[in-house]
Parts: sequence; C-alpha cells; structure tokens
Amino acid sequence: MTSAGLEGIIAGKTGIATVGKQGAGLTYRGYRIEDLAEHATFEEVAYLLIYNRLPDAKQLAAYKKRLAGLQGLPDELKAVLEHIPATAHPMDVLRTGCSMLGTIEPEGEGGRTPASIADRLIASLGSMLLYWYRFKNRGERIETVSGEDTVAGHFLRLLTGAEPDPLKRRALDVSLILYAEHEFNASTFTARVVTSTLADIYSAITAAIGALRGPLHGGANEAAMELVSQFDSPAVAEKGIMQMLAARRLIMGFGHRVYKNGDPRSAIVKDWAKRLSDAAGDTSLFDISERVEQVIMREKRLHPNLDFFAATTYHLCGVPTPMFTPVFVIARTSGWAAHVIEQKSDNRLIRPLGEYTGPEPGAFVALAER
Ligand code: ACO
Repeated sequence: MTSAGLEGIIAGKTGIATVGKQGAGLTYRGYRIEDLAEHATFEEVAYLLIYNRLPDAKQLAAYKKRLAGLQGLPDELKAVLEHIPATAHPMDVLRTGCSMLGTIEPEGEGGRTPASIADRLIASLGSMLLYWYRFKNRGERIETVSGEDTVAGHFLRLLTGAEPDPLKRRALDVSLILYAEHEFNASTFTARVVTSTLADIYSAITAAIGALRGPLHGGANEAAMELVSQFDSPAVAEKGIMQMLAARRLIMGFGHRVYKNGDPRSAIVKDWAKRLSDAAGDTSLFDISERVEQVIMREKRLHPNLDFFAATTYHLCGVPTPMFTPVFVIARTSGWAAHVIEQKSDNRLIRPLGEYTGPEPGAFVALAER
C-alpha cells in the first residue's frame, strides 16, 4: 500500500513536538504553542528545542550572550556572499551561506557539535542574508555584529541600520516562536533523512533550506503576500479570489496536510497582524487579508495556515517579501537541529521502498539496432 505524499504515515518517533494531537494541539517538548507565544521569547524556545529543557534566567542570559557573540561572519564567507548576484533569491543566499560556513567551521573540528553549530547558524543566518542584501543594494559592507541580543532585534537592526521598533521586534520574535518547530514536515523530514546517512548538520540544514523554499511549504508566506498585494480593497479581493477558485487555482497560505480544522498558529499571528496594522494606522492590508480568509472559508471550508497572516505581519514589520521565507529558515533551524540531534541519538538509515510502475523486464536492444 502506498500513500501519496506519505499522507497519514507515521515515519518515525519523536519527543520534540505534537502537531494537532487530540487534547494537546501544537506543543514543543510538552509546552503549548499558545503559552510559548504569549510568555516566552524565541531564544528560550530555541534553547528548549536544542537543549531539551527551558532555561532558567541565568542560562537564558548566558545563551543570549552566546548567540550575540556568534553574529560575525568569516571573511571567506563574506567574499562568497559578495559574489552572489543581486538577482538571486534570498533563500538561495541562505542555502549557499549555510553550506559555505560548513566548509570553514566544519562539524567535529574545534569541539563543534550539532548543538553548537545550530546556535552559530541561528545567530548568523540573518547576518549572512543582510550582509549580502546591504552589499548588493546599497554597496555597503556592514558590520554584522549588531549589538542586539535577540534574533529578532538582530535581524531588524541589520535590515534597516536603525533601532528596531519594540512592537515590530516582538511581532517578529513571536513569529519566530511560531515557525520554530513542526514535527515531520517536509523540510524537517529532509533534515532527518540526510542525518540518517550520518552526514553532518550543515548538509542536513542546507538540504532542509532547499525543501523549505517551495511554495507548498515555506515559500507560501511569500506567495501569500504576492496574492494579497494584488488587491486594493476587500471587494476587489473577493472578486479576485472567486475568479481564482473558479479557475481551480491554489490559494497560497490556505490548507494544511495535518490541520484540517485550523492551524493554531494562525490566530496568534493574525492577532499580531492586527496589532501592527492598528499601530500603523492603516488596516488596509489586514482588511484585504481578512476578506480573503472569509471568502476561502465560505467557499472551500479551508482555514489559513501560519503563512497567510505571517505575510501581513512581516510586511508591516518592514521585511521585504523575498525575505519572508528566510526568516522562517532562521526560526526553523532550531527545530531542524533538534531533529538532527534526536535522529542521531537513535539512528537507523531512512530508506523506504518505491512501488514499481515501470515496464516489465525486456530484452536489451543494442545501440546499433535502436
Ligand atoms: N487552495 C485551494 N484549494 C486547496 C488548497 C488551497 N490552498 N489547499 C487544499 N485545497 C484543496 C485541494 O485542491 C483538494 O481539493 P480536491 O479534493 O477538490 O482535489 C483539497 O483541498 C484537499 O487538499 P490536498 O491537496 O489533498 O491537501 P494536501 O494535504 O495534499 O496539501 C497543502 C496540503 C500542500 C498545504 C495544500 O493545502 C496547499 O497547497 N496549500 C497552499 C500552499 C501553502 O499554503 N503551503 C503552506 C503549508 S504550511 C507551512 O509550510 C508553514
């Protein structure tokens, strides 16, 4: 028996997250996503995922200091980033940057472990992206040690060069919490498959970035922004969505393989999109997005996933649209790393079977007779 897209298949055991589990919902190591998004910071969540416990105040302060100390980039990496074309997609910049860092600071040398490399990547992926972005767009070679001690603050500071607005900083921080982990999704499963061959964590995360890039997975937040920004009012949005549905087009940011009755992260990120819109004194994008949500629910009974209102949230935080999925990468590196570590702790090569649908064995036809 095959299952298209491995739907419904339990592909392994994990103690990291529950997704849509009866009575639990979405949890990271037993903590509900609603509580984490309300009360924790991304650094606490990354620590929880990678080190398998919530940090106390002293551990958290030390961890934030450690991450802030890992924001700098080696010169060889900066040189590679400077060679990437300005037209490249930011996801390709991160995929390349991650892989390049693995050649300079390989696993196993200098006491480097998957956990320490995960911290390094969480701290420096934003540096890589924004070093490239500022160099290509403004000809600046920026200092990537920002002096910010949160991942969200670091990203916003390097993006604009200015002091981040506190509301935007917290909105981005919460989005990182929401994006941090999600069990055996496509990119995490990719990371586990790579790890199961006993390859290093850079290989696993580079591959995972590739898997996240597509619009059926992480790329949907970028695609959702492109969708809502086509419309200049809720009424126009309603008309446009009805036409798309009539043409049987996919509406990006809606539907989910596991959540058929709603993604619990969506309400949280929607609330942040609303708060940011109110603070900006301009709710037009939010109103359009909300109308799209209502029409899709009315017509298709489909709920938005995290990516849909993340688009409005990121736009209102001033993040350029092609950087939406890279922000997801920075967050999900914590979850990917947790899975790499878990896979390694009880490894067996992941190697399923394929159901053969090709031709029956036949006589080989020599080249001269074809
Ligand atoms: N727009 C329109 N119709 C949809 C959508 C959508 N976004 N999602 C599902 N449907 C329809 C399907 O066409 C199908 O209809 P049918 O039965 O008439 O053929 C039905 O709903 C069931 O959907 P499946 O394709 O079986 O759902 P599947 O589990 O394979 O796919 C997926 C899940 C890929 C997320 C899908 O809903 C989709 O393509 N959504 C848009 C992309 C997206 O938002 N991805 C982000 C995922 S979440 C994340 O990565 C954070």
